[in-house]
Amino acid sequence: MSKDAYTLTNADGSSSMELPVHKGTVGPDVLDIGSLYREQGVFTYDPGFVATGSCSSAITYIDGVKGVLMYRGYPVEQLAAHSNFLEVAFLLLYGELPTASQLEDFNESINRHTMLNEGMLRFFNGFRYDAHPMAMLSAVVGSMSAYYHDTMDINNPEARKVFAHRILAKLPTIAAAALKLNAGQPFIYPRNDLSYTENLLHMFFAVPAEPYEINKIAAQALDLLFILHADHEQNCSTSTVRMAGSSGANPYSAIAAGISALWGPAHGGANEAVLRMLEQIGEAKNIPRFVDKAKDRDDPFRLMGFGHRVYKNFDPRATIIREMCHKVLKQMGRTNSPLFDLALELEQVALKDEYFIEKNLYPNVDFYSGIIYRALGIPTSMFTVMFAIGRTVGWVAHWKEMITDPGGKISRPRQLYTGPPQRDYVPVDQRS
Ligand code: CMC
Repeated sequence: MSKDAYTLTNADGSSSMELPVHKGTVGPDVLDIGSLYREQGVFTYDPGFVATGSCSSAITYIDGVKGVLMYRGYPVEQLAAHSNFLEVAFLLLYGELPTASQLEDFNESINRHTMLNEGMLRFFNGFRYDAHPMAMLSAVVGSMSAYYHDTMDINNPEARKVFAHRILAKLPTIAAAALKLNAGQPFIYPRNDLSYTENLLHMFFAVPAEPYEINKIAAQALDLLFILHADHEQNCSTSTVRMAGSSGANPYSAIAAGISALWGPAHGGANEAVLRMLEQIGEAKNIPRFVDKAKDRDDPFRLMGFGHRVYKNFDPRATIIREMCHKVLKQMGRTNSPLFDLALELEQVALKDEYFIEKNLYPNVDFYSGIIYRALGIPTSMFTVMFAIGRTVGWVAHWKEMITDPGGKISRPRQLYTGPPQRDYVPVDQRS
């Protein structure tokens, strides 16, 4: 084995080949198996991509053992403490923190794109009053390709830029329209004099009948949550966006695909599932029963908000959110939160349990975020939509990186076929 290559030899030693090694700026080396099938006639097998790098990327780095998360090299803790969501969005999209004038122009551009085409607003009349907001979000984002034809040319840098700003600006407006439909209230138009999260709160909670005062603490809490959700390298929904976009599909369709992937309870849907699970547990005395259920191999139940494919020590986002939970509840005058107390109790029980220790299962980002959303008055069915609003910029940054990669190819994995070998067609009257 040389330093820059691995030698792969088959079991009987009759053939071997050198696999080149790629080195990133930080993190483990990566074996390049691109020529394996051509040279050896075999595929690699890695269901769920547990040990497979699907692309190279300069956007986000995670060290799951040390609990490190960096956007463009900046630790998420520093960004959470000193930055704001739109500045982080610029960083993810363009690779560097903006200068003051770049940030001003970016904020201005996002503010100018907040309104929806009125035709799109009418879609909401067609949804059932109790439609899940994630269903509406993926449908309406997908339908943006029917409205914004000026951004359909994926090879045009200006079109890509307008698409990026537009989708980032409109996600809160679409989310608000879904929330208002569920609430049976009139849609509230965006206000461009407000910050990103202030405007979101205004569209979510204002009603025409009375003035609405924006709660600055709520706006700050949301801003921080969006920073923490902004990107997470090649997770399920981001990989979905890359895969859908790799065919050359328009970017709105690719993002709609990512939203659909996010909805699942193993991914972004976990924040809604955590709240429903806590409500189901109800009281601290029931915790052991639910922990036992989670440990039972024959029971599909899992402790929602626990475990992570990459973090095997702690999720740095969960640590920040846990602290924020205390702060938000206190500042909102909700010192007595039975749900938060129950979550803390469940966390303690699980962290001391052999099963969870042995399998490195720790609370993840979704464990606490729902408690904050609940304290801010956001309906449970909107929790994954909140995740989607924060994550959209990450999806867009990855889509852009993928589209502009000169070595980019359509994503097309292979398989281990386990179906019947070739057999001959039998006419229906001869089948037993
Ligand atoms: N409760 C009980 N057992 C668990 C849990 C859990 N939450 N998570 C994993 N395990 C067990 C699992 O049964 C398996 O046991 P065994 O080795 O005996 O078969 C072992 O731990 C490894 O789990 P895995 O499913 O092979 O691990 P994975 O990397 O494929 O899955 C996960 C990661 C996040 C999907 C999983 O931990 C899970 O389902 N957690 C609950 C859902 C959740 O909170 N998702 C949010 C993830 S963070 C935000 C995001 O990505 O959107």
